[in-house]
Amino acid sequence: MTAERKLLTDRAGVAMQLALLLLAISLAAATANARNSKPGGDGLSTSCRSMVDSSAVDAPARSSEGREPGCSARLGAALSVGPLQDIGTAAVSAIHEAVRMHGMVVFKNQALSRAEQVALTDVLGETIILPRSFEGQDTNDPEPGHPAIQRVSTHWANGTWKGRHHSFGAYWHSDGDFWQPPLHNVLSILYAVTVPPSGGETGFADLREARAALATPLAARAANASITASVRDINDFAGGDEDDLARFPVAEHKILNRHLDGGSLLYVGSPSAKVVGAEGEGGELLAALMDHAASPPFTHYHAWDAGDVVVWDNTQTLHRSFPFDNDGSSRRELYRTQARVRLGRGQGWPRRDEL
Ligand SMILES: *[C@@H]1O[C@H](CO)[C@@H](O)[C@H](O)[C@H]1NC(C)=O
Ligand SMILES: *[C@@H]1O[C@H](CO)[C@@H](O)[C@H](O)[C@H]1NC(C)=O
Repeated sequence: MTAERKLLTDRAGVAMQLALLLLAISLAAATANARNSKPGGDGLSTSCRSMVDSSAVDAPARSSEGREPGCSARLGAALSVGPLQDIGTAAVSAIHEAVRMHGMVVFKNQALSRAEQVALTDVLGETIILPRSFEGQDTNDPEPGHPAIQRVSTHWANGTWKGRHHSFGAYWHSDGDFWQPPLHNVLSILYAVTVPPSGGETGFADLREARAALATPLAARAANASITASVRDINDFAGGDEDDLARFPVAEHKILNRHLDGGSLLYVGSPSAKVVGAEGEGGELLAALMDHAASPPFTHYHAWDAGDVVVWDNTQTLHRSFPFDNDGSSRRELYRTQARVRLGRGQGWPRRDEL
């Protein structure tokens, strides 16, 4: 076999593996939807169906956390690529494609060491490490020895309970809105090691579907508007050194924005963002857009099992944590890393031949 023919054979092998993986995604996505559906259902719970049926006048049922149900059919596909250690090129392509298509994807039954999570992050993109001074004492909690890992935990690494009122990211936001475009194209990877018996879900909101369904008057008010985001306005970074803060000039993003793949989306960042160029009051516009994006047709709530890894695309989703009974008797321990999408030729979503 000549070298050239060998190469073609290898390519065919990768293509076949990729086809099988894409099949696995669609099957798993169908299964994930099936799990949520009622008999004879369309994947929507009764209260979700009433939300999408415009003739219904009943308010949707609220869950025990006081939030409305999540009805997104797009977010939250389950993807089976086996153990996430040492994944090959085809699996990396399948993950990127699933995250692009579904905004956030779930991998069940994983067992990653901290070093293995960083290695996974390295193959998904450029691993992000924030300046040490941004990791304040009482807010952020970097994993000792792994500056790329943020601990999202009820307990400090030394085992001390952080207390009843400690929370992390309990408001709708995109990670990384303070990076200037296109550096804000960040994937987050969150791995659950220990979860409480109930509660503590992470909510996700679909900024593509929210853009598509945006009412004309709101779209008109947002048409010429941008958000600006600064590390100086983010409470988690309040202890940042001046030198480190100065390395992050104010980032500006059009609200009516596009994904790297060309699809339109709503980019609203976080509540600490400021609005420029809006018709009317900017803060009120941002709040209205956030409420719209976080409404039932566009949301999905992930109830964690230990061993879940969730990967999401911050440009096309918002996320937030939800409370649980945090009285010190049970632990919640998750580990988050972030990978910047590698911006290859043309700054598109990574192409298969660029991985
Ligand atoms: C554990 O770590 C936290 C956060 O750094 C600190 O505030 C606390 O005093 C430590 N507790 C012990 C017992 O070392
Ligand atoms: C759009 O915003 C820019 C600056 O933010 C401003 O100069 C311009 O006049 C605005 N255009 C309209 C139509 O509002």
